[in-house]
Amino acid sequence: MQFKICNDSEELIAESAAFIADVCRSAENDCYIGLAGGKTPKPVYQLFGQEDIDPTRIHLFLTDERYVPHDNAESNYHMIETSLLKQHEGQWGSVHAFDTERSIDDALSQYEVEVQAIPEGSFDLLVLGVGPDGHIASLFPGFVVLDTPAHIVHTTTDVHSVHDRLTITAPVIMNAKKVLVLLSGQEKKAVFDELSSQTRNVSEFPAHILQTHRDATLYYST
Ligand code: 6PG
Repeated sequence: MQFKICNDSEELIAESAAFIADVCRSAENDCYIGLAGGKTPKPVYQLFGQEDIDPTRIHLFLTDERYVPHDNAESNYHMIETSLLKQHEGQWGSVHAFDTERSIDDALSQYEVEVQAIPEGSFDLLVLGVGPDGHIASLFPGFVVLDTPAHIVHTTTDVHSVHDRLTITAPVIMNAKKVLVLLSGQEKKAVFDELSSQTRNVSEFPAHILQTHRDATLYYST
């Protein structure tokens, strides 16, 4: 994993938006990007939408979702819609979200098919945040399974907002060509220390799987 330490959150936002845009511009063909929810990426997505990109060649997927309607303030779709999708509306190559109007099982099967259809079976880029407990996407401690054939699973949390979650699995994360990890704020210092240490205990701290990813870059600012 590569570590980029930023002077402040403004620098982190600018550098990581430029990073995502560079991945899009350097893709030979269309570009497949998975976007996490949470607070940290929101301003990054906003700025990414203003970069010099061709949205028609960019296919956007949510990495995970809270099982609430899309117009709920807790919905990751809602955050991504307001920060990014409203820009270039109707011009994106495609936009893939979990259909939370359907049952959890139906939403999972539909999204499984959409993720399986990604060319070469791997995202060009995943943008991930990390929770204080080390969760990535909605893979909470105890939910990391490395040898599952599933691309999408149902997980639950009693610690974070919205109990039922739908998420990409650890193999999907490990197969992504690149991963961009965003950590911002003093409250993420312990996560940064954990990821820059040699410790590896993925069942207790899911983000530890990123330490052995082939091309993961972490941007951090206090
Ligand atoms: C979610 C996410 C989750 C998030 C981390 C970090 O739905 O909450 O996809 O994995 O990225 O919890 O969130 P913050 O950036 O808000 O700290």
